[in-house]
Amino acid sequence: MTYVIAQPCVDVKDGACIDECPVDCIYEGPRKMYIQPDECVDCGACEPVCPVEAIFYDDDVPDPWEGYRTADREIFGVVGSPGGASGTEPFTEDHRVVEQVPLGAPN
Ligand code: F3S
Ligand code: F3S
Repeated sequence: MTYVIAQPCVDVKDGACIDECPVDCIYEGPRKMYIQPDECVDCGACEPVCPVEAIFYDDDVPDPWEGYRTADREIFGVVGSPGGASGTEPFTEDHRVVEQVPLGAPN
């Protein structure tokens, strides 16, 4: 288990979390950021700095956002563990739970 980024990040992508992460494990998708679960050291530094409260320990993700408990892990199914977001190109596609969020929808 690890920290994950839920729906409030979608189409916001404030980026404050990236500056706080000591292991550079927060990766960028078109509409949301994603935490690489095997690189995250569970320090929790990112959680309080998100202005829209999008970051949760995965057990604590609110029920309406259940799909986000696994989205961050699943999106790394193909790329695996890149070893650092700053040297990695942003993803070209989001996880399907993000793609299902209508553009302009309130989070
Ligand atoms: Fe998203 Fe919040 Fe980070 S909006 S980019 S999780 S600071
Ligand atoms: Fe980084 Fe947050 Fe994990 S700061 S190490 S993504 S808990």
